[in-house]
Amino acid sequence: MILVTGGAGFIGANFVLDWLAAGGEPVVNLDKLTYAGNLENLASIADDGRHVFVRGDICDRALLDRLLAEHKPRAIIHFAAESHVDRSIHAPAEFMRTNVEGTFTLLEAARAFWGALEGEAKQNFRFLHVSTDEVYGSLAPDDAPFTEQHPHQPNSPYSASKAASDHLVRAWHHTYGLPVVTTNCSNNYGAFQFPEKLIPLMLANALAGKPLPIYGDGLNVRDWLYVTDHCAAIRAVLARGTPGETYNVGGWNEMTNLEIVHLLCDLLDELRPDAAGSYRRLITYVKDRPGHDRRYAIDARKIERELGWRPAETFATGIRKTVAWTLENQAWVRHVQSGEYRQWVTKNYAERT
Ligand code: NAD
Ligand code: DAU
Repeated sequence: MILVTGGAGFIGANFVLDWLAAGGEPVVNLDKLTYAGNLENLASIADDGRHVFVRGDICDRALLDRLLAEHKPRAIIHFAAESHVDRSIHAPAEFMRTNVEGTFTLLEAARAFWGALEGEAKQNFRFLHVSTDEVYGSLAPDDAPFTEQHPHQPNSPYSASKAASDHLVRAWHHTYGLPVVTTNCSNNYGAFQFPEKLIPLMLANALAGKPLPIYGDGLNVRDWLYVTDHCAAIRAVLARGTPGETYNVGGWNEMTNLEIVHLLCDLLDELRPDAAGSYRRLITYVKDRPGHDRRYAIDARKIERELGWRPAETFATGIRKTVAWTLENQAWVRHVQSGEYRQWVTKNYAERT
């Protein structure tokens, strides 16, 4: 058994699907099902006996103790988090609760469970913490990409909460010897991404004929990685990573937001042409995100050198698959555009115009 937290969200669900497809051992999937968690992401394994879904909160210590005692996982893969920067600016409290207190609670439960193990089970146990490149802060145009040695310099409530969780994970290894590994990954994209994030939001808006809201000048740079490549990197770190180490994960693919949106418009023009003209006509510049990090870039040489992982997809292949998935799964998009989603869109974008 492995215990996955947040496995009904975007990356967690992709991880669980890929893990089971690759013949991995059974999964206990603990997820609170916040607005971002969606059992529809896991519909294809609804009848798979290797997947046990538990609705619950990582802040619930009694639940964690019960799940660990019952299922005796050989690893915990920790995805559960509040993950959207703009939401963290509007309402940071939940980010502190889930990302900091939740990670602390999970670490304490893991420590108690692992402490009682013996022999090989104790030696082989792993706590894999899924983190982000945003903890490193922002780069100037000519700065070298983030290495694992780059200091944590978080700038948003979200990244500060993830940085705090990274520090807790590090300390639980250093002080208690808990066998942890941490991954710091760049921006993911792919199937099942909630349409509050740049790529799925732009696709959903374009297909609905709505404005494509570019924050600021659109020249902020992100590194983009196809989600199944992130899942493969996590599997590699789980299998071969050294306890106490952190591994940067990235796509070697820096692009400005404007370049991304232009490419999405061009792909839609090709695959779903609109009689009204190119989707680029919908591009609209709006008020910038407060404290908007200018550039992230990941040096992913360590994971390649030590664990033999490199992304399999290029951005060209991954984004084409993502656009095709979106066009084929419009029902999924409609379902997640619930009342809560509409409220968020009104709140976030009304004050930017
Ligand atoms: P997501 O927001 O799509 O999913 C988060 C999941 O966690 C949801 O299913 C939600 O219901 C669950 N969750 C939230 N609070 C919980 C709680 N208290 N208890 C249990 N479950 C809870 O996020 P994502 O984009 O899939 O990101 C997953 C992880 O990867 C996060 O830790 C994030 O920081 C990290 N990450 C994301 C990216 C990215 O580009 N999306 C990149 C690098 C790292
Ligand atoms: O770098 C990894 C991080 O990537 C993850 O840790 C986060 O969980 C994930 O949300 C993502 O954070 P970003 O803030 O980079 O992603 P987002 O999709 O929100 O925004 C990407 C860029 O696009 C950013 O520069 C802001 C810009 N943007 C975003 C939205 C939603 C716009 O210009 N318009 C928008 O409407």
